[in-house]
Amino acid sequence: MSGKLLEGKNAIVTGAGSGVGEAAAVRFAEEGARVVCADIRLETVKETVRRIEEAGGTAVAVECDVSREDDVVSMVAAAAERFDRLDVIYNNVGVPTPRLGAKLEDHTAEDFLRLVGVNFGGVFYGSKHAVLQFKRQGTGGVILNTGSVAGMVAWGGSVYGATKGAVHQLTRAVAIEGAPFGIRANAICPAGMPFTGFMAAGGLDTGGAAQEAVTRQTAENHPLGRPITAEDCAEAAVYLASDRAANITGVLLPVDGGYVAK
Ligand SMILES: NC(=O)c1ccc[n+]([C@@H]2O[C@H](COP(=O)([O-])OP(=O)(O)OC[C@H]3O[C@@H](n4cnc5c(N)ncnc54)[C@H](O)[C@@H]3O)[C@@H](O)[C@H]2O)c1
Repeated sequence: MSGKLLEGKNAIVTGAGSGVGEAAAVRFAEEGARVVCADIRLETVKETVRRIEEAGGTAVAVECDVSREDDVVSMVAAAAERFDRLDVIYNNVGVPTPRLGAKLEDHTAEDFLRLVGVNFGGVFYGSKHAVLQFKRQGTGGVILNTGSVAGMVAWGGSVYGATKGAVHQLTRAVAIEGAPFGIRANAICPAGMPFTGFMAAGGLDTGGAAQEAVTRQTAENHPLGRPITAEDCAEAAVYLASDRAANITGVLLPVDGGYVAK
């Protein structure tokens, strides 16, 4: 086994313009992978690619809305064309409960369709087209999804949590369907990460004192006593993407400082 965990592998990371996706793309490249960095905001993934290239890695920026199947088809094709083969897809994009703190009855039909379309639809399309690509290649491959502790316990919003529960179940089913073809599927399930763009995307004030309060509250929620970081998730992703995890599939791995175990 080479010194670098992902040497020679070609990976796609979605949501690579911020937070977990950015951290995972950077760590994948550090471990020797060539990375397609995809995001709905092209400027942000161009910056991730710049960081990777500056450190001597190889990456390409792709604009993709993961809730649109044609965009996902183009993203997978870009990886196959640019790097010949696809080995790993990390379906990481997720959007939060709109107006964080919204109860079930506060969700509009539009809120519902957006959460389902991006959080579940994005993982469905990414998994589907990665499986098709892996089967065309005859190589097997790795699917990683970002789930959430919100798909395991009631946290983070009812509809949001339900989309993550769906991601978890899809992960397990794809793991079983894919096993005879050498395709592994696992999910990384974070708890509260106040330092990514996620809470601001949910409309939470993340400036100054508000940021401090959220950070303190998140830390208090976790038995290990600190918030989860994007880098914590990226480390789990590197391991699960690597051949060291060759016999691990269908796992929903909490990266939560013990939150779910409590
Ligand atoms: N931050 C938390 O507290 C937390 C907790 C548990 C799980 N998660 C999950 O972690 C994952 C990553 O979130 P993060 O905290 O890094 O958030 P983030 O907001 O920092 O990053 C999300 C990225 O996804 C991109 N994106 C949004 N919609 C998209 C779309 N339709 N197509 C393509 N790209 C799109 C955004 O532009 C952004 O760059 C998500 O799946 C989220 O649900 C986050």
